[in-house]
Amino acid sequence: MKEITIQKPDDWHLHFRDGDFLAETVPATARCFQRAIVMPNLMPPMANAEMVLAYRERIKTALPTGSHFEPLMTLYLTNSTGLDDIRQAKAAGVIAAKLYPAGGTTNSSAAPSDLATMTPVFEVMQEVGMPLLVHGEVTDSHIDIFDREKVFIDRYLQKIVQDHPYLKVVMEHITTAEAAQFVAEASENVAATITPQHLLLNRNDMLVGGIRPHNFCLPVLKRNTHQEALRTAVASGSHKYFLGSDSAPHEKHQKESACGCAGCYSAWSALELYTQVFDELNVLDKLNGFASCHGADFYGLPRNQGTVTLVKETWTVPEEIILLNGKPIIPFFAGQEVHWRVKIND
Ligand code: DOR
Ligand code: ZN
Repeated sequence: MKEITIQKPDDWHLHFRDGDFLAETVPATARCFQRAIVMPNLMPPMANAEMVLAYRERIKTALPTGSHFEPLMTLYLTNSTGLDDIRQAKAAGVIAAKLYPAGGTTNSSAAPSDLATMTPVFEVMQEVGMPLLVHGEVTDSHIDIFDREKVFIDRYLQKIVQDHPYLKVVMEHITTAEAAQFVAEASENVAATITPQHLLLNRNDMLVGGIRPHNFCLPVLKRNTHQEALRTAVASGSHKYFLGSDSAPHEKHQKESACGCAGCYSAWSALELYTQVFDELNVLDKLNGFASCHGADFYGLPRNQGTVTLVKETWTVPEEIILLNGKPIIPFFAGQEVHWRVKIND
């Protein structure tokens, strides 16, 4: 196949950041996605409806003229999230609430330190119909970083899902065979997003021949058997898995550092790279479901009307992108070839 047309896709998990980033990140995603779920891990965290709505306005201001892109906003769960915060967020149109591992990733220090205290919050979320988006990793220092996702499932997620059967739960950016299996076997209220980097790469791509900070994200890339399990999961066409790029820009100096930040800025190539993966797997017929249907169906939102056509043409991702403040970002796959390109977008 040399060309494929899919319904206009959505990105169910990404980071736009704020301030000078928005003029870069918002158009990059709006170029081909109709909607995106925007993560709330800013400084300070977007922990109440008022903050989230003001952030949504800042995002909208950064949209190109005439764009119909719709940001879908999330609430950041903290130690002090109250039941009214959930109710007010729901009333304000906030689509979901995000649970971070305390201290485990970018701007996560405000996350709940004890998940046992979150039960009343999860109960209200279940009651009002607000999905829980989970970064599923434990942060205990003695748990090996490659095991943190599996331990989170065994220690917490099984129980959260069991105790709240009507709560919709998205396990975000899954990275392991165990997570793919957990989601496959869980109820219809449990689903997962999968990033392009976890489908394309494994930990060798981060560590062999020199350390590659631009392939460092969290949860960290795992061994190739897990990459294969994720590829098998998307190739199955199961509606449990959908597109969430986790596009997460950091300035170059924060990635290329003695203590570099986690995150791959993939907005300029994510849809194309997913298409490349589905092509490699010989399942291009499953791309439309993954990119354009499963997420909308899970969230109970209408599927999009327009279409995007991609052609099999090679192009090279730019080496760097300059922000409004003059500082560079290195995009995911910088300087590397991508074999699909967006041709028409209506
Ligand atoms: O790689 C990541 N980047 N993982 C996260 O959990 C957060 C994200 C970010 O905000 O930079
Ligand atoms: Zn993320």
